[in-house]
Amino acid sequence: MNDIRLKKLQTRVADFLKDEGSGHGFDHILRVLENAMLISKSENADTNLVAAAALLHDIGDYKLNKERKEQYREMIPEICEGLGYTNEFLEKVIFIVERVSYKGAAVEDMEMPIEGKIVRDADRLDAIGAIGIARAFAYGGSHQRKLYAPEEDPELHADFEKYKNSDSSTLNHFFEKLFLLKDRMETKTAKKIAEDRHAFMEEFVRRFMKEWNGDL
Ligand code: ADP
Ligand code: NI
Repeated sequence: MNDIRLKKLQTRVADFLKDEGSGHGFDHILRVLENAMLISKSENADTNLVAAAALLHDIGDYKLNKERKEQYREMIPEICEGLGYTNEFLEKVIFIVERVSYKGAAVEDMEMPIEGKIVRDADRLDAIGAIGIARAFAYGGSHQRKLYAPEEDPELHADFEKYKNSDSSTLNHFFEKLFLLKDRMETKTAKKIAEDRHAFMEEFVRRFMKEWNGDL
């Protein structure tokens, strides 16, 4: 992170996300960057590309605008304007960003270069464990989702549009995404960290159900 462009980019992203309150704030971006740098230590990757893609991975994401539209193609070059990145570099970033997002339980992850695998694993580590739980309920609350709706079964979406437009309860989100992430990790560092975070979420859901069912 001693590249001056990355420092400037970090400031721009922080400013851009200053009012974000659905679990995708700048603190999330910084944790993803930190996770990605840690994972990179055991991989052979271009760390400038990893860091830029980590900083930019939620810019223009459909979850961050009211219209629920993907806007990264336009917004990434815009936010990087004047930093001196080549079009070729920005294309590599965009290639990764469009493949980072989870698109449904029955939608296979797309092929990635090693830099993309690192960023995707780093992003997914922040979706699980204690912070993952906190983020899920922050997102659910900001989208008026119920904590839990026992009458609704989780859905293993095979279609991104359906996953995107689903408004199931936050507890369902654990079964539709969060519990599935551990086995989708691709780097050894992330696989290892995911084990413990996964176990903690299982314990959380077990306790949640117990309390919900009035089992004192
Ligand atoms: P991804 O690109 O894989 O969607 P993000 O970093 O953009 O990852 O954010 C995903 C996080 O947003 C989830 O891990 C979760 O915390 C939250 N989220 C997304 N959809 C839902 C939902 N339907 N219910 C609760 N939380 C959600
Ligand atoms: Ni993210």
